[in-house]
Amino acid sequence: MTVTAVIGSQWGDEGKGKAVDFLAESADYVARFNGGNNAGHTVINEFGTFKIHLVPSGIFTQNTVGLIGGGVVIDPSVLLDEIGMLNRAGVGLDGRFWVSPRSHLIMPYHKILDGLYEEAKGAGATGTTRRGIGPVFADKVSYNGIRWTDFTSDMFESRLKVQLELKNKIIVALGGEALNYDEVRATYRGYYEKMKPYLRELFPLVQDGLKADKHFLLEQAMGTFLDTDWGTYPFVTASTTIPSAASAGLGIPPRYITRVVGVTKAYTTRVGAGPLPTEIHDTSTQAYGLFAETAATTGRTRRVGWLDLEIIRTAVALSGVTELCLTKLDVLSGLEEIQVCTGYKLNGQAVGYVDVDAYGLEKVEPQYQTVKGWDGDIRGARRFEDLPLRAREYVQMIESAADTPVKWIGVGPEREATIRR
Ligand code: GDP
Ligand code: IMO
Ligand code: MG
Repeated sequence: MTVTAVIGSQWGDEGKGKAVDFLAESADYVARFNGGNNAGHTVINEFGTFKIHLVPSGIFTQNTVGLIGGGVVIDPSVLLDEIGMLNRAGVGLDGRFWVSPRSHLIMPYHKILDGLYEEAKGAGATGTTRRGIGPVFADKVSYNGIRWTDFTSDMFESRLKVQLELKNKIIVALGGEALNYDEVRATYRGYYEKMKPYLRELFPLVQDGLKADKHFLLEQAMGTFLDTDWGTYPFVTASTTIPSAASAGLGIPPRYITRVVGVTKAYTTRVGAGPLPTEIHDTSTQAYGLFAETAATTGRTRRVGWLDLEIIRTAVALSGVTELCLTKLDVLSGLEEIQVCTGYKLNGQAVGYVDVDAYGLEKVEPQYQTVKGWDGDIRGARRFEDLPLRAREYVQMIESAADTPVKWIGVGPEREATIRR
């Protein structure tokens, strides 16, 4: 039981923040390894209510050490605000929170370019969070990135100069305003000074922890189907979201990742563009009203749909999910009938997720099974036996379709609103 990865099995916002918060009870280390502050993870516990973008959601457990691996891209102003906010809330990060100097920085031009690219694509836009995620990862893999380690010499200044020469030309050509070198330099040097106490090469720490059989909890950002390779490309995010990303993004050899918790919402949501086969378009329906959510990072309204078992099965197989954490079961209460997608058809033929691309997935016809719902409030349930029969059957149907046990069931947003099996 050395390394547990916690991953979202749908399109993000499955409730990973809450799951990591309660799973951290048994963790020595909690770590982010992918994505950036496009993530918004909600945690509700004795410290309050938080929407966290970068610091691992397990940081509230006082004897855990929080890590941000080199695979994460960081907007320094967002991270510094978050550190300040958590310290003020009494969480206490000093001496137990470390950021890899290998991580790349989101620069002002990344955010500007993200917006300009989106506008240029018009109706074909991805619907990004506009946090600069695509452009910063593009710079990373084209050797144009700026990392914390560059601030230890004047490498930051020389790299910034080249980047501003390049980026300002593009920004101006697309109708934007050129950035000023002195201003950007001074702002980012200021960020570095404030971040210095938290920057530390993580390799020795992670290696020693693995040797000592410490428990690492890895918190994925985004979801399986936003993965650059396996998601609904081009309606994806710019990082790898499957557990193998923790190998490069934190320096954990893959063989150590022996448990993978698949966090699965009892229905489906998606923010931004791209296919969502089980989407509910009729905003006047009871289900739409129950499922509707507001995005934690951008405040946009999340698109909603019925549970899609083809998506869950694919995620389980792709990431080697060993156990499921089912969230938001309480939200289904009161529905007379619940639709569950058991597979797709395209032109009369059965097709799977991997048989079609994103544009094909827009066209598939979900095959629904209708199951009877349950009445009454289940938010107080703490044992599986406390749930109404039909709620238990809903859980068992998911276990059997995914061939994976549901070990935790969320019946409310708070840490304690969880059934452990
Ligand atoms: P994440 O990005 O995967 O961490 O998920 P988000 O925090 O973006 O979105 C999940 C939303 O569902 C948040 O508002 C959570 O507070 C909420 N939530 C998580 N688990 C449950 C649950 O079991 N029941 C209810 N009602 N809300 C939940
Ligand atoms: P958490 O970790 C849901 C989506 C965006 C957009 C696409 C690309 O909270 O589950 P990006 O800004 O990454 O270039 O946008 O990815 N997206 C998310 N959707 N939850 C997230 O994170 C997301 N992070 C990015 O809405 O469709
Ligand atoms: Mg979220």
